[in-house]
Amino acid sequence: MKATYFGQSCVQLELNGATVLLDPFISYNPLAKEIDIDTLMPDYIFLSHGHGDHVADVVHIQKNSGAQVAAIVETAAWVGRQGVDEAKITSFNFGGTLQTAFGSVKIVYALHTNQTPDGQYGGVAAGFVFKSGGKTIYFAGDTALTLEMKLLERYQIDWAFLPIGGHYTMDVEDAIIAADFIRCKNIVGIHYNTFPPITIDTQSAVAAFEKAGLTLHLPAIGGSLNL
Ligand code: NI
Ligand code: MN
Repeated sequence: MKATYFGQSCVQLELNGATVLLDPFISYNPLAKEIDIDTLMPDYIFLSHGHGDHVADVVHIQKNSGAQVAAIVETAAWVGRQGVDEAKITSFNFGGTLQTAFGSVKIVYALHTNQTPDGQYGGVAAGFVFKSGGKTIYFAGDTALTLEMKLLERYQIDWAFLPIGGHYTMDVEDAIIAADFIRCKNIVGIHYNTFPPITIDTQSAVAAFEKAGLTLHLPAIGGSLNL
C-alpha cells in the first residue's frame, strides 16, 4: 500500500484495491503547481471538514472521477449543494464505521471548528481511521491535541497523518504527545509550510520526533511512501 502527498493535508492512499483521496486542496496551492488534478482518479474522496484548504478541489475531481465522497453529515450536505449526485455522497457521523470494498473507515473526533465555503455550519470536524490490507492508518485532519486521541490506541495504528504546522492545529510539540496518546511511531506530517503562519523548521521537527523515539516522515509534494 502507498501514500502520496499533494501538499497541505491532501494525501492519496492506494489501499487494498482502491484509491482514496483525502482533503483535496491542490490547484489553489502554489506549492503543488506541478500536480495536475485532472490526472487524479480516486475511487473515494474523504473530507475531514469544510474549510477551503481541505475541500477546494473536491467538486472538480469528483466530476472527473465519479468518486464516492464521504464526510460528516453537514459537510456532506455542502457537497450535495455543489451539484454532486446524491448517490455519490456518503454522510455519516461519530460512532459510525463504513464498510467498503477496500476495508473499513471509522470517523473519529477532531478538535477544530468547521464551516463550509458557502458560510454554513459544517458539522464537527473529523478524522478517519482506515483499516485495509492488514494495516491501520489514522488521518487526523485538522485538530488540536485532545485527550480523545487516547481512544484510538486500541486500533493499533501503524501509520498516522498528523498536522504539525501549529497556529490552526497541533504544532510539533503537541503532535509528539498525540503520537504517544495513539501509540504510533510512524508519523507523516501534514498541514505545514503552505501559509506563513504554519511555516516550520522541518529539520528541527524531524529531530524532535527522533528524540522522542518516533519517525516523522515528510514526503515532498508529489512524493510517495510505502505503508
Ligand atoms: Ni480547518
Ligand atoms: Mn486546515
